[in-house]
Amino acid sequence: PPRPSSHPCLFVEANLIREPLVVFVCATTGQGDPPDNMKNFWRFIFRKSLPSASLCQMDFAVLGLGDSSYAKFNFVAKKLHRRLLQLGGSALLPVCLGDDQHELGPDAAIDPWLGDLWEKVLGLYPVPHDLAMIPAGVPLPSKFIFQFLHQSPSRSSQELHSASPDPQEPPSELQPFLAPMVANQRVTGPSHFQDVRLIEFDITGSGISFSAGDVVLIQPSNSADHVQQFCQVLGLDPDQCFVLQPREPGTPCPPGLPQPCSVQHLVSHYLDIASVPRRSFFELLACFSPHGLEREKLLEFSSAQGQEELCEYCSRPRRTILEVLCDFPHSAGAIPPEYLLDLIPQIRPRAFSIASSLLVHPVRLQILVAVVQYQTRLKEPRRGLCSSWLASLDPAQGPVRVPLWVRPGGLAFPETPETPVIMVGPGTGVAPFRAAIQERVAQGWTGNFLFFGCRQRDQDFYWEAEWQELEKRGCLTMVTAFSREQDRKVYVQHRLRELGPLIWELLDRRGAYFYLAGNAKRIPVDIAEALTSIFQEHGGLSEPDAAAYLARLQRTLHFQTETWA
Ligand code: 2AM
Repeated sequence: PPRPSSHPCLFVEANLIREPLVVFVCATTGQGDPPDNMKNFWRFIFRKSLPSASLCQMDFAVLGLGDSSYAKFNFVAKKLHRRLLQLGGSALLPVCLGDDQHELGPDAAIDPWLGDLWEKVLGLYPVPHDLAMIPAGVPLPSKFIFQFLHQSPSRSSQELHSASPDPQEPPSELQPFLAPMVANQRVTGPSHFQDVRLIEFDITGSGISFSAGDVVLIQPSNSADHVQQFCQVLGLDPDQCFVLQPREPGTPCPPGLPQPCSVQHLVSHYLDIASVPRRSFFELLACFSPHGLEREKLLEFSSAQGQEELCEYCSRPRRTILEVLCDFPHSAGAIPPEYLLDLIPQIRPRAFSIASSLLVHPVRLQILVAVVQYQTRLKEPRRGLCSSWLASLDPAQGPVRVPLWVRPGGLAFPETPETPVIMVGPGTGVAPFRAAIQERVAQGWTGNFLFFGCRQRDQDFYWEAEWQELEKRGCLTMVTAFSREQDRKVYVQHRLRELGPLIWELLDRRGAYFYLAGNAKRIPVDIAEALTSIFQEHGGLSEPDAAAYLARLQRTLHFQTETWA
């Protein structure tokens, strides 16, 4: 038996070594990193002191979840697979590379792999003939039991995230701060295609603190219309209250869910009915369907052969769970309420770069939000849940509170006053740099270079007056690219190239840090190309040396990016 360790997690992981068969399912995040909840295991499995035959008793399989638009696609799964082999484990199958970029989603790779896996596993561990099998079409027990109450409880227990804040703990997902929204202002001109909002929260007394590069997480809610429509199609009474009990002890309840809770509250704040359903949704819904035709269609969507059709119906046009339920009304009306949390994912918080500094706006937190709205072949436009919800809140009409908390973001700024920073932030990508510039200027630090790009000066040039003021004071060098004020497109990378000698001088002689933030898919590639050509032209480097130079900047965090879709 493994020696008891002072570290309980490692003790659990050490027991893993004696398992005869393990299937690892692991995502790759960020720049090829394991997810947070895998970090202990990662440290454990790469310990130098693990003997090389540690896993000689173990059969294993690794299922990776990744995104092929990142350079280090499924890096964690591949690296884990190699390490398990090195430690003497026997791989049942090659590593599975689930890809979010695939039109059919990660299932495209996972389906055939799972088929092979079951074949191998059932070969090694045949199911005894006398074992009772769960018949097809019967759902597993729900995760939770709902006990409906005959009498409604007092209103106070129905308040949003009613847990009273513990002053010792900063707000978190379990205990968000209900921040009063104090401003919600459109900052794009009337003829601009997009509604972009500068939103300000009052964080007085919240215990929240942040610095440049940090992000705020916001927990959005569904619109009242959608909640009403959902309750109607499922035949639920929004005012009915229930108490939630996990069927298995240890299953966590949704964070912050009040007990007792009303159906209205659950649907408004927990069930992500505006998201695009996954295949498992159709599989489970089919189990409840009392309607022959509907069930047949749902089963087709959940089969491996039906994936192309499912993609055409759901993923491509971004059809939502609510819309699907309206298309399958007999099945929707038959959903047992205790399965709601198995069927529908919880609303996830959304991250926004913080756009202000506490040194300039004490007890305030500002964000810049592009309201997401686009058209697919469906008649109704698609709307981003969080941005549309935020845009719909109007503090001028009465008090508005938004559940939020902060966490460190992907950008870290140098703490040495003499180190220059070059920031490239087209569109809303400028948000984290406003925080950084405010913070640096407030401390008297110069060497701030900002490259900003937008369509037209009078439509989407955020904080124009503020930048001008800072330039006048000599605290900022600002370079702009207005893409639609002339015939040909002018982008930030064109400006970077024009200022190639300065960029090279700043990076190579003065140890500058270079940052990129933005939401266009091509921007990271375009900026990397601009930089490597500057390194060749003005640094005299060969093409491979320029690429290596850029890679070194990335490794040493002198080049950091934060991009979003
Ligand atoms: P466009 O919309 O005129 O193409 C903020 O969105 C600014 O970023 C806009 O001016 C937009 O230009 C520009 N932009 C779009 N794609 C870009 C790219 N690949 N690199 C740099 N800027 C880009």
